Parts: sequence; structure tokens; C-alpha cells
Amino acid sequence: MNAIDMAIRAAAANITLSGVTKAYDAETVVIPPMDVELRAGEFTVVLGPSGCGKSTLLQMIAGLERVSGGTIVIGGRQVQDLEPKHRGCAMVFQNYALYPHMSVFDNIAYSLKVSGMAKAERIERVGAVAKMLGLLDFLGRKPGQLSGGQRQRVAIGRAIVREPGVLLFDEPLSNLDAQLRHDMRVELADLHRRIGATTVFVTHDQVEAMTLADRILILNKGRIEQFDTPKAIYHHPASVFVAKFIGAPPMNILPVTGDGSVLRLADGQVAAQARLTGAYQLGIRPEDILVGSKPDSKAGEHVVTSALRFREDLGSHSILAAELGGSVVRIATPFGVEISDRSQLFLNLPASRLHLFDAASGRAIPGALSAN
Ligand SMILES: Nc1ncnc2c1ncn2[C@@H]1O[C@H](COP(=O)(O)OP(=O)(O)OP(=O)(O)O)[C@@H](O)[C@H]1O
Ligand SMILES: [Mg+2]
Repeated sequence: MNAIDMAIRAAAANITLSGVTKAYDAETVVIPPMDVELRAGEFTVVLGPSGCGKSTLLQMIAGLERVSGGTIVIGGRQVQDLEPKHRGCAMVFQNYALYPHMSVFDNIAYSLKVSGMAKAERIERVGAVAKMLGLLDFLGRKPGQLSGGQRQRVAIGRAIVREPGVLLFDEPLSNLDAQLRHDMRVELADLHRRIGATTVFVTHDQVEAMTLADRILILNKGRIEQFDTPKAIYHHPASVFVAKFIGAPPMNILPVTGDGSVLRLADGQVAAQARLTGAYQLGIRPEDILVGSKPDSKAGEHVVTSALRFREDLGSHSILAAELGGSVVRIATPFGVEISDRSQLFLNLPASRLHLFDAASGRAIPGALSAN
């Protein structure tokens, strides 16, 4: 291994994208010019719908996909024109490919061997990684003799064994069952604490995003909708897109109209106090709606009536679906709260839990509601 590679391997690195864009032709702009800075040692989770450009973004950082414009700086060096192997990144692919003729041990040890590491150290490193990934019993097998989940873990092992300064993961846990996924999530968090590599992790799984990320980057058609901590993304979504993307079920979004003193739902019921006029979108999370059997409310709450459509009991809590002002709202109630099967529900909407968005752009309007 050369001195430059040694140096980039040694420490976590800042990754700075300036005006980075990807276009296949004039009509197919997958990533419009993007500016973003991923701090050294930070764990970034990239979330977004299928086809929004997550893999493309990762592959441009890794050097597997050329940028159409802009610069990528990793650890102070411009890398957008460098070969992948000179960028100091290790990547676990969405469709990982293992060397089929090599054993699990050799697959994991390959990069160490190429770098000229002594055999004893290789054995020690591979052993530690295999132990962490639950692969000790499979080191002698070929990839063809493994399950999908085991192969995925070998791919992760191959990337992390070099302890790189930058780790790029493209849905690395998608083939695992729920239990293994949970265990791997805990292991990855622990690994990150230990080696502290700057990590970019693509997933569809909100729980992974919320639990692993220092910051979540939400992509919509190649553009950054919001890049912030899990808490901020959850409690202060910057747009309707983000609000509807996070949470299970996601935030309810209701069209409302302001008359200068109150916001009314489509059926005329008052949902909030606000000195606003015109059309808006009002958001409230399912767990923030309080269900009452009588129309009483505390200060700062507005009560609206709605018609119960159906309920799902999930053990720990129930999800109610009710019709309100021409929309269906979802309400999460703790299990055991008595909801009579009468179809009329009284919904208390605490003002401090309401989110307001522009009707046309969908962008959040912070501070517009008095209690916010
Ligand atoms: N060679 C290509 N020519 C034109 N368009 C392409 C090409 N390769 C990818 N795309 C488009 O680029 C967009 C982004 O693809 P990408 O693989 O980055 O999405 P993704 O967010 O990773 O999606 P998924 O969650 O399904 O993996 C897609 O709309 C895809 O169709
Ligand atoms: Mg992808």
C-alpha cells in the first residue's frame, strides 16, 4: 500500500460535495447540483423513495459513477477524478458481489492481502470481524454455500476489515430477517463508535435511520429535502414530503383555510387559532391526537368530530382510521383506551403539536401557529 492510501485510511474524513450533479442526458438529470458537507466521523443516513438517487449519490462518492459536474473533497483532497481505490472509501453494495471461488475467510481478507498485511495480523483482523458478524462457523465455506443474509454479512465484513476512514453502505441489511437486522444494527452502531469512520448509509428502514443516524439526509428526486438530526426531522419536518416520509403511520396532512382568525378544515370545523388567510396544509402526528368520548378540551386544544372507519389493534397500541373533513386521519391510541364502537369520535388537536405547511410548495411555515 502506498503512503497516500495509508494516510487516508488512518482517520475519518470530511466529505464535501460542491455542485455535484449527475445527468445521463439533458432530460435525465438524476441529481441536480448538490452542496452538502458530511462531517468527519459523522453517521449520515440517506432516506428517500425508490429511484430518488441514493445509490447514485453513494457511487459518485465512491468513484464507481462519474460526476457530471462539481467537486467531491474527501479529507481535504479533490477526489472526483480519482480511481475508487485512491479515495479511501469502502463500500457495501445493494447488490454485493463476493468472489465465488474464494472462501469466506479469503473474501474478507482479500483487501488486507492485497495491501501486503502480514498473515498473522490478517488472521487476527478477519477473526475479530467474523466474530462480530456471527460468521466464525462459516469461514471455510464458499459464498454459494451461504444464505442470503450470511452473504450480506460477508460483504459487510469485507468492507469494514480495512477499517477505512469512509464507509459507504447501500442497504446492507435488506436481506436479513427482523432479529438479525436488529442485532446487526446494534453491531454497526457499536462498530461506528469504535472505528469512527465517516459513514453514509442508505436504507428504506425508518427505524434504522432514526436509531443509527447522527443526521438524516432526505432525498426527493435527487434534491435534499432536509438534512438534520433524527429528532429535528421527526419533530420539525421541513416539508410535507418529509412529514409524510417519517413515522408509522406518517403524519396526517389536512387541507385548511384561514379566515384571519382561525383555520378551518374542509368541512368547516375549526382546527386551530391563527391569524392567517388563504389555503394551507395542517399536519399532526397520529400519536399527538387525543381521542375523547365527550367533546371537552383543555386550553390550547381544539376539538373536532370525526367518523370512525376502522381500527387495528397492534398489541402495544391501536391505530384508528377516521374520516375528518373529507380526509382519512390516523390516530394512535395506547392499547386499552376504551373506544366505543359508536362511529363518532371527538379528536382533541393540541395546538403545540400542529405543523403548518404552505399549500403550494409544501414547505413548513415555522412559528405561524400561536402555541408553536
Ligand atoms: N444508466 C442510466 N441511464 C438513465 N437513468 C439511470 C441510469 N442509471 C440509473 N438511472 C436512474 O437514476 C435514478 C436514480 O437511481 P438510483 O439507483 O440512484 O436510485 P435509488 O434511490 O438508489 O433507488 P432504490 O431505492 O430503488 O435503490 C433512477 O430514476 C434511475 O432510473
Ligand atoms: Mg439504490
